[in-house]
Amino acid sequence: MTTIGIIGAGHIGSQIARKAVGLGYDVVISNSRGPETLADLVAELGPRAKAAVAAEAAEAGDFAVVTVPFKNLEQVPVQPLAGKVVIDTNNYYWERDGHIAVLDEGQATVSGLLQEHLPTSKVAKGFNHIRYTDITTDGTPAGTPDRRALATASDSPEAAELVTRLYDEFGFDTVNVGPLAGSWRVERDRPAYAAGRQTAAELEANLAKAPRTI
Ligand SMILES: NC(=O)c1ccc[n+]([C@@H]2O[C@H](COP(=O)([O-])OP(=O)(O)OC[C@H]3O[C@@H](n4cnc5c(N)ncnc54)[C@H](OP(=O)(O)O)[C@@H]3O)[C@@H](O)[C@H]2O)c1
Repeated sequence: MTTIGIIGAGHIGSQIARKAVGLGYDVVISNSRGPETLADLVAELGPRAKAAVAAEAAEAGDFAVVTVPFKNLEQVPVQPLAGKVVIDTNNYYWERDGHIAVLDEGQATVSGLLQEHLPTSKVAKGFNHIRYTDITTDGTPAGTPDRRALATASDSPEAAELVTRLYDEFGFDTVNVGPLAGSWRVERDRPAYAAGRQTAAELEANLAKAPRTI
């Protein structure tokens, strides 16, 4: 039995939980306001789901998903995620998150900053360029013509492999961008981010076209 610790229970966190529970994962899900505010979601998800505070969700997970507004990155618990794969769905929206100079100037990446915050975890980018509604509706079995592909990136081959397996279970092909230093290619407003539904070949072409800063 594999448990996913989910930090963030909004659009993306709740959709990942829905799909994961349907696939037979256990989930422990958290938000900023406390587990009691997640009672309706947990009731909907059923017996495979529990609500907890973020540190408990992180501790419970065999791996974790961080899916909070990027401005709250510093609040993500560090110690309970040590040694674990952490999937980072986050995007940088300066309108919401405030300006972050190293991102504006192309000197860092969103997931690279989470990796810096979680130095003992294995951070992998995932689910950052799919609308939350599509997570439960757009997956298809492996080998389906025109199957949708999603990008990942990680400094850890183990983490990239885990995301690849999870994407496949969710119904998506994977394009591995490589180390986190190159993950800007799928960040906000780059062609791969903006294009919506893409096959692996289309995603690869769009990743190649990305400008470093926008
Ligand atoms: N929406 C999309 O379609 C989409 C697609 C791809 C990527 N993304 C990115 O994924 C991230 C999450 O997006 P979203 O749309 O799911 O956001 P959202 O709907 O605003 O949900 C954010 C969640 O994070 C929780 N949270 C905030 N601070 C927290 C903390 N310190 N510890 C635990 N939980 C915390 C919030 O809890 P409270 O409500 O209790 O504050 C809320 O449950 C963002 O970076 C977004 O840009 C979004």
